[in-house]
Amino acid sequence: MEANPHTSTSPAEGATHLCASGRRPPVAKDGFSSKPFRQAFSVTFEYPVVFTRDLFSPRNPVLKNTLERLSEDRRHRARVYIDDQVAAMQPGLAQKVEGYFETHGDALELITAPEVFPGGEAAKGGLDLAIDTLRDSLRRGVCRQSYIIAIGGGAMLDSVGLAASLLHRGVRLVRVPTTVLAQNDAGVGVKNGINLDGVKNAIGVFAPPFAVLNDRDFLTTLPEREWVGGIAEAFKVAIIKDAAFFRFLCGAAPGLRDRNEDLMAELVRRCAELHLDHIRSNGDPFEFGRARPLDFGHWSAHKLEILSNYRIGHGHAVAMGLALDARYAADRGWLAEQEFESIYEGLKASGFPLWYPENEWLDPAGKLQLLKGLEDFREHLGGELTLTFPQGIGNRFEVDSVDHTGIEQALVYLKDRAATL
Ligand SMILES: NC(=O)c1ccc[n+]([C@@H]2O[C@H](COP(=O)([O-])OP(=O)(O)OC[C@H]3O[C@@H](n4cnc5c(N)ncnc54)[C@H](O)[C@@H]3O)[C@@H](O)[C@H]2O)c1
Ligand SMILES: [Zn+2]
Repeated sequence: MEANPHTSTSPAEGATHLCASGRRPPVAKDGFSSKPFRQAFSVTFEYPVVFTRDLFSPRNPVLKNTLERLSEDRRHRARVYIDDQVAAMQPGLAQKVEGYFETHGDALELITAPEVFPGGEAAKGGLDLAIDTLRDSLRRGVCRQSYIIAIGGGAMLDSVGLAASLLHRGVRLVRVPTTVLAQNDAGVGVKNGINLDGVKNAIGVFAPPFAVLNDRDFLTTLPEREWVGGIAEAFKVAIIKDAAFFRFLCGAAPGLRDRNEDLMAELVRRCAELHLDHIRSNGDPFEFGRARPLDFGHWSAHKLEILSNYRIGHGHAVAMGLALDARYAADRGWLAEQEFESIYEGLKASGFPLWYPENEWLDPAGKLQLLKGLEDFREHLGGELTLTFPQGIGNRFEVDSVDHTGIEQALVYLKDRAATL
């Protein structure tokens, strides 16, 4: 494995270094530098992603087994946070969680009654909530060995995850994702982030969770927008990585739209698996490099979410972004016309509107505001743009520039097409 550029840095000019014995290593003739010690070690991250049902049924051993998986000889203490909409839609949940811990009281201890946590993008609106969570945790005696269990959508998992990663320099986080998108993407990975000053995920950390427990029964209370929204990430990863999965999605689209739970469970499992494969095997789990294949379609999606003040959810914005980048790719011959058609029709049949007025909003200088998404992406990547595009279904490649006129043409096409439907 290549040395991590963020940890194998050269010593600063003029720096001296103590060796293990406390004696100074020889200083070079120029008097400024000595031979640096090479500090290098690796850490293996490992976490189970479990698919289950009725997670808090007293008979379901998944949570207990998960908390006990390191075979430590003590009771496991946990603080539980529940997304406010999950708590509202599933009113008996907090009690059920308490019942679970009582049933397994010999092994598990609930630090206090579960706490309701704001759900949706409000959960990521700045550092205040994360700081409140940290204060609350300290006050309640959450220690370095305790667990934080977060039950909710991708946004609250991001926010609670960030707090968990900061508390005592990192406590064990068990994610229980409750939306399609959180179960198949946001909740299974290694990132935690919140927004600041209108910049999506401006602050955050890479911190792998202790475990992810995906319970499909949570999905039954999802509003329409969230049910459909998570399907976009499955299309995203299928288009650039897995043609067979893409064909499955196109065939399943009408059933998915009609809330077929078995089809959705299949989608979630395969999509999560593809995300996990990517993180495990692409050689850059903490995204030090510039290539971000899993952000295909996202440069405009993030901007669209912000322009709409989050009226357009992440998944819907991603579906729009996929249609836009797929059209752009087809115009350049990277996708066959028929492949573009399958993408467009597949997304549409799943229930995504593929046009929003925000797409054509102009700034005071008369430029498309959406195009600022490319700038934001470039800045986020450190100055040089790298975007992933499909090259046929199931394959991908990277480009380092995008033709603004080409994007504008793709937008005109998509607007016209939506108007004729
Ligand atoms: N960390 C990552 O790697 C990563 C990856 C992708 C997306 N994200 C982030 O995830 C967020 C989107 O997550 P999301 O799509 O899960 O939406 P969300 O978390 O914003 O939740 C959407 C709404 O659904 C509610 N909800 C959640 N579960 C419910 C349930 N079972 N029943 C009824 N209502 C429920 C929430 O309270 C909220 O109002 C974005 O902020 C995005 O940036 C993070
Ligand atoms: Zn996404």
